[in-house]
Amino acid sequence: MSKPKVFVTRRWPALVEEKLKALYEVTLNTDDRLLTAGELKFALQNYDAVCPTVCDALSADIINVDNKRCKILGNFGVGYNHIDINAAKRQGLVVTNTPGVLTHSTADIAMTLLLMSARRGAEGDRLVRAKQWQGWCPTHMLSSDVTGATLGLIGFGRIAQAMAKKAHHGFGMKIVYFKPSPADEYVTDDLKATRCNSIEELLQLSDFVSLHCPGGDATRHLINAGMLKLMKPSAHLINTARGDVVDSVALIAALKNNKIAGAGLDVYEGEPDVHEGFLALNNVTLLPHLGSATLGTRTAMGEKVLANLAAFFAGDHLLDQVF
Ligand code: DGY
Repeated sequence: MSKPKVFVTRRWPALVEEKLKALYEVTLNTDDRLLTAGELKFALQNYDAVCPTVCDALSADIINVDNKRCKILGNFGVGYNHIDINAAKRQGLVVTNTPGVLTHSTADIAMTLLLMSARRGAEGDRLVRAKQWQGWCPTHMLSSDVTGATLGLIGFGRIAQAMAKKAHHGFGMKIVYFKPSPADEYVTDDLKATRCNSIEELLQLSDFVSLHCPGGDATRHLINAGMLKLMKPSAHLINTARGDVVDSVALIAALKNNKIAGAGLDVYEGEPDVHEGFLALNNVTLLPHLGSATLGTRTAMGEKVLANLAAFFAGDHLLDQVF
């Protein structure tokens, strides 16, 4: 029997690419460049499975292409707001993702950004490299205390809870969170975490606000000018979720006018483009979507896609089907 044909939109770690090649008739994007809409349509028409990732915008127009052969989108990543899920549903496409395996690496990046923003790490690095450091003095580059401060988490899923553990047990931070329904008691007891009644309340209470909600229409510009106004002038905003959760123009204005102390961003509206306004500011730390970027995590994400494809082609129950 011939092997299913699988199309992978971007390079994966070698170990998981090798496993894919052993199991399927695989086409890799050997140049690792961003594919065009036409190329994505071609993949949907000529392969049984397409494995996209966060940088592939799979719009309704692409998903609705005629003469589709593809039956499953095995997404490499946990977030799937780059896929028009309603169109996929209508077209009878199965969509799977990779939850659970990138929890710690993403929470680590959120903590990295929190610490860098609080302690002005990127700014200090730039100063030293520019040979502008004049030497130690008691008032040089004073920054915000992390230990004992209050961390507010908007969204309280796996990644937020992992960050809360590091922050609470490692840095003695007080944890508050907002999600529509209360989290399980065994989680909140361990973290001594308190649920806020609203995002507005959380913004007013927190020294650091970290975003952990999904992207997409429901959360677009959730953090806008009005919400930023509620934050303490000494507070920092951390975003490792999705860029469109924050109104970039409003955040740039808040940072520029010192309405908040700083921000640490791993994700951007319209990435890989980054709003020019951020580039001129010293009080924002900018990372290039590194949340899951460890070799171990990216390999584990590939293994998850492999497991999802294997279950699909065997007709077994799909653990990570997104709808
Ligand atoms: C995801 O999996 O959704 C991440 O953003 C990619 O690291």
